[in-house]
Amino acid sequence: MLWIIDTDAGVDDAIALALPFSPDQQHRHHVLAITTVSGNVHVSKVNLNVGAVLDVLGADVPIYAGCDRPLRERPAHAEEFHGPDGLGGAGLAKTERRPADMHAALAICHLAKAYAGQVGLVTLGPLTNLALACNLDPALPTRISRLVIMGGAWQARGNQTPAAEFNIAVDPESAHVVFERFSNITLLPWEVSLDQMMPLDVFERIRSGRSARARFFAAMTRIVDDWRARFGFAGVPLPDPLAVVVALDEGAIAHALRARVHVDIGHDVGRGLSALDYRNPQPNAHVVTAVDAARAWEMIAAAWA
Ligand code: RIB
Ligand code: CA
Repeated sequence: MLWIIDTDAGVDDAIALALPFSPDQQHRHHVLAITTVSGNVHVSKVNLNVGAVLDVLGADVPIYAGCDRPLRERPAHAEEFHGPDGLGGAGLAKTERRPADMHAALAICHLAKAYAGQVGLVTLGPLTNLALACNLDPALPTRISRLVIMGGAWQARGNQTPAAEFNIAVDPESAHVVFERFSNITLLPWEVSLDQMMPLDVFERIRSGRSARARFFAAMTRIVDDWRARFGFAGVPLPDPLAVVVALDEGAIAHALRARVHVDIGHDVGRGLSALDYRNPQPNAHVVTAVDAARAWEMIAAAWA
C-alpha cells in the first residue's frame, strides 16, 4: 500500500506521523505525501508543523497544502489543546521545508489516479480536502483502496459539541460528502481513544528516551500534562496515532461494527453527529470500537525510540 496522510497537525497528529517512518523496519511503510488542512490550527501553521516533524524523522516526503477553512462552517481551531503553534507551544515549529505548488486536493486526485488501486489514505483532521477531491474527481472512491478516517463519535460522546467529534464538527458538510461517496471506510472514532488511553508508564517511557525523536516527543507533549490536569485523564488519549495504527496494521483492530454512518448537517443539537445505522442495507464503514492496545503502544513506542 502507498499511503497519503491528511493532517491538521496538532500534537496527536505529529505523534501519528512518525509511525510509517519508524526506525523499526517491520513498521516502515511507503508514504507518497502528507497533505495539510486547517483544523487544530490554521493550515499555514500545520505546514510548518509537518515540516518540523519530517525534519526530526529524517523523512523525504512531499507536503501539499490544502484548505484553510471549512466548506461552509466558520473556522474553528483547538489551540487550547495543541498550543498556539499546534505543536504544544514548545518552539518546535521551525523548518526550511515548504509545501509543493499543487493544492492538497489536487495532489490526492493526481496520486490516486497515478497509483490507482495501490493508494491508502488516512485522514487525521477535518475532511475538507477529501470532500473537495471527491468533487474534482468523482471516480476518486474507486481509485483509493483503503480510507481510514479518525473522526466521529459512535456513541455520540462528542468532544467539540455534546454530540460531535472535532474533525467532523469543524466541517460537517465535507464529512457528509465523504461518507456519502465512499463505501468502505475504516472509522476510528473518538471514544476508542478515550476508552483505550495510552497508560502513563508507557507514555513516560517514550518521553524519557535520549534520541532526537524522543526529545522532540517530550518537548511537544509537555502540553499533554495540561490535558490530564484539566480533564483528570488517567492516561493519554491518542486518536490520530490509533487511526494510523489500524491503517498500517489491520490486525490491531480488536472489534469493529459494520454500519452506514450518516453525518448530520442540520443546525440543531445534533449537527456534526456521526449516526450509525446498523439496519441500512448499504453500509459504508467498519467502525472500530476496540483496538489491540499492546500492539498499538508497541508501534508508537518503536516509532519514537
Ligand atoms: O477529536 C480528535 C481529533 O481532532 C484529532 O484528530 C485531533 O488532532 C483533532 O484534529
Ligand atoms: Ca488531527
